[in-house]
Amino acid sequence: MNLVLMGLPGAGKGTQADKIVDKYGVPHISTGDMFRAAINDGTALGLQAKSFIDKGELVPDEVTIGIVRERLMKDDCQGGFLLDGFPRTVAQAEALEQILTDMNKQLDYVIHIQVDQEILIERLTGRRICKSCGAAYHLIFNPPSQPDVCDRCGGELYQRPDDNAETVQNRLQVNVKQTQPLLDFYQEKGYLRNINGQQDINQVFVDVDKLLGDLQE
Ligand code: AP5
Repeated sequence: MNLVLMGLPGAGKGTQADKIVDKYGVPHISTGDMFRAAINDGTALGLQAKSFIDKGELVPDEVTIGIVRERLMKDDCQGGFLLDGFPRTVAQAEALEQILTDMNKQLDYVIHIQVDQEILIERLTGRRICKSCGAAYHLIFNPPSQPDVCDRCGGELYQRPDDNAETVQNRLQVNVKQTQPLLDFYQEKGYLRNINGQQDINQVFVDVDKLLGDLQE
């Protein structure tokens, strides 16, 4: 399965991606995770990305497209992939079309998780992430069994630096502006599938899974 997960910041892309990976074993390619790993490793890419991420801006297209192209060319993506948070601009979507043509592949679905903006602010500012395994929790909607401890691996939970209230506002504004043209692009190509992301986490996955089940028939 060749998938794109779309949705505004906090829509639940990472949460649903974990579930898709658990069930279908497809490689998860999150540009946000790739940038954060580069920042932690102190690489040149990380330094460049940090200046944009800290402000809630998008990392320039040429940088982002380059790392995705490189990742998709790896052997593990030959059998399928799950892109999370890429593409985010029409230029990135056009570049992805070209990359897939070069790979002799095409997308199956672009899954768009829809959530109202007012809900997203609460989701993002209450999110906590595991330092060790990256699992996402929410202080209210998806709390860990013990405060600040990951249920999955026992790691310590932290708040992402770009989840503070001020940066969240800018992230939402920046992403809202880019999203509609991207939705139009994929609607026209027939790949777009909308999912109601305002349901309980497990119910959202039931809807996602119904779509993916169709692909396996
Ligand atoms: P990225 O890491 O992709 O962040 P994002 O798009 O802002 O999305 P998030 O990871 O914040 O949210 P999510 O949708 O994964 O939500 P989650 O499942 O965690 O990107 C970070 C930055 O990197 C960008 O700002 C940009 O600078 C840069 N970047 C990345 N890709 C780029 C690109 N292509 N081009 C340019 N720059 C790029 O859920 C959120 C919270 O809600 C969690 O606490 C979760 O437990 C909870 N939750 C999830 N689902 C539900 C539900 N159904 N009900 C209740 N709570 C829920």
